[in-house]
Amino acid sequence: MAPGPGKRFLKFSGLRSPRKSFASVSGTVHDGGEMSQSPLIIAIDGPAASGKSTVAKRVAAALGIVFVNSGAMYRAFTWWVLQNGIDPGDTSAVRDLLARTEFACGEEDGIGTIAVAGVPMTRHELAASDVNAAVSPIAAIPEVRERLVSEQRRYASARGVAMEGRDIGSVVFPETPHKFYIDASPEVREARRRAEGIEDSIAKRDRIDSSRKASPLVVSGDALIVDSSDLSADEVVDAVLAAIREKMGD
Ligand code: CDP
Repeated sequence: MAPGPGKRFLKFSGLRSPRKSFASVSGTVHDGGEMSQSPLIIAIDGPAASGKSTVAKRVAAALGIVFVNSGAMYRAFTWWVLQNGIDPGDTSAVRDLLARTEFACGEEDGIGTIAVAGVPMTRHELAASDVNAAVSPIAAIPEVRERLVSEQRRYASARGVAMEGRDIGSVVFPETPHKFYIDASPEVREARRRAEGIEDSIAKRDRIDSSRKASPLVVSGDALIVDSSDLSADEVVDAVLAAIREKMGD
């Protein structure tokens, strides 16, 4: 997505700031968000395959907080819809299933986990091509979003998180000062997904995600936009950590 007029557009080409230990940066970071009054929340949004998972995972590890892929929750519910033989286009059947579905969000080694209806999700279920094809229409259903957003907020009320998704800065945690939008050109994103060997029509998902009525993918006005097209993951992570450090007054 192209940044809108007036947005800050920072391209961190050539950024080579030395990695600094966050253990010494500030009280809030130092305790991983657990002992401060409100847990540290880092919101990382962006289109499909922009590299935001990699960045969020590394940022979370550097800060000692939990990495949460909110897309995994939408994927988990989509998997469950398909398992139940429900047509993803049958909104009322999807809503009925949602009402009787339990989600359990946990944590393993600093990474958020999700179980749907008691079934722990693995990459096998979450990255299946039928899930890729059905997830965006299901994520566009307002009731699905309301339910998962409330699970996300509940989860983050108990621990610091670096959460990535589409609406984390705009809708889920609009109060956090730490908002990032990780972008990359459509060509680079398609190539990244192909390199993972995953069948995924990301252009189509992007179209649905950006045009849906309920919390579409947008660039929050106060988010720092990082174009990762020509940057290594390390460079993007360094840029994000530097911005967090700056906001925290270091
Ligand atoms: O990894 P990738 O960026 O391709 O997608 P994902 O983060 O796993 O998200 C899969 C789909 O879930 C997205 O295409 C959106 O339709 C939906 N999603 C959403 O609507 N809101 C979020 N916060 C996260 C994901």
